[in-house]
Amino acid sequence: MKVDVLLGLQWGDEGKGKVVDVLTPDYDVIARFQGGPNAGHTLEFDGIKHVLHTIPSGIFHSNKTNVVGNGVVIDPIIFMKEIVALEAMNVNINERMVISRKAHLILPTHRLLDAASEQAKGKKKIGSTLKGIGPTYMDKTGRNGLRIGDIESDNFQERYDALKSKHLQLLAQYDFEFDLTEMEAEWMKCIEKFKGFKLVDSEHLINAQRRAGKKILAEGAQGTLLDIDFGSYPFVTSSNTITAGACTGLGVAPNQIGEVYGIFKAYCTRVGSGPFPTELDGEVGERMRKAGHEFGATTGRPRRCGWIDIPALKYACMINGVTQLIMTKADVLSEFEHIKVCTAYEYLGEKIDYLPFDVVGSELTPVYEELEGWSEDLTGLGSIDEIPSTLQAYIDYLERILETPITIVSVGPDRNQTLMRESTWVIA
Ligand code: IMP
Repeated sequence: MKVDVLLGLQWGDEGKGKVVDVLTPDYDVIARFQGGPNAGHTLEFDGIKHVLHTIPSGIFHSNKTNVVGNGVVIDPIIFMKEIVALEAMNVNINERMVISRKAHLILPTHRLLDAASEQAKGKKKIGSTLKGIGPTYMDKTGRNGLRIGDIESDNFQERYDALKSKHLQLLAQYDFEFDLTEMEAEWMKCIEKFKGFKLVDSEHLINAQRRAGKKILAEGAQGTLLDIDFGSYPFVTSSNTITAGACTGLGVAPNQIGEVYGIFKAYCTRVGSGPFPTELDGEVGERMRKAGHEFGATTGRPRRCGWIDIPALKYACMINGVTQLIMTKADVLSEFEHIKVCTAYEYLGEKIDYLPFDVVGSELTPVYEELEGWSEDLTGLGSIDEIPSTLQAYIDYLERILETPITIVSVGPDRNQTLMRESTWVIA
């Protein structure tokens, strides 16, 4: 059985957590492959809202295996907070979750380095979530990092001290004050608790499950436009958020990837700094933010809002090999009489329909087409057959322009507000 992948096509916050939770009954294994507690995957059911940061979004279903893969970076303190919240809901963690020994650890000093580096950048800051993601991946690629499996070794403390001391030397170069004592003591306590979890060589587990015919869903974090290689560099995260990241972050061979679900909002948002060609600064953007409750699940920061960006989505579909599209937050656009779709950009006096290399330094002016909106409240719809004709026209338009079928339309945050769809789209 091949491994299916679900990932974001924009700048994150597309609603991955909710959709993974909805799809989980069809799968045996849900596996996170990159990122860490910079993610905030929100799930709602039975009137309760849950935000997961590192733990895969299949955790609320019994008889499923949730894998925290080798490509993930783990902050033991944040992780333990998630565990405590889940245990309070009677989720049996060890029955449902395994952690890769090869996943890297976020040290307290990684978080400090993240904060110091952002502070030093001043106006040029990335807008990092300050969870220590960048410095941890830097230590991974710089071959200095500590991995979860290392906590089982006798000289763990020694190796921790050596890395910490490197970090302290780096921190001394910044004008940045900190007190490590409390955070470090808590971190060490949490590390001890990790010894009670199921630590595994997850690449073997994943491939054994695959060979046994089990269905596996790889759950992405952040989004394609935040990918370290293909995102709006340097305003990106530090991991590969794309389909290829599922291969390296879980140990799945490229020829063992099956469906690729690409998830996007019916409009577009971004949190943190960096280019956003279709951003709406004024009243329209504010209305979108309010209607979509666009505030970061991890940091609480207001998200920047704008119209859907087709050249960027086309790029994301290409890079990821998307086979099915999932559109979320269609209900939010009920707010608008007309909907704008960016189909191209004006760039250096020319009209182009692709993202140029220097997205950051360049002035990209979006070229819009305007479509009719729908004013109906979609949040109570029970089936795709009930959607307004103008929403149907929006779906048809996007399928045609993105050359990919849309098979799920989400019309609210709850599990139940999900409309499954048999697409009739075919390549012309
Ligand atoms: P970092 O990954 O915390 O270093 O943040 C780098 C950039 O990615 C910042 O602009 C963040 O706001 C953004 N980012 C990181 N994780 C997420 C996410 O899960 N959703 C949306 N944006 C994110």
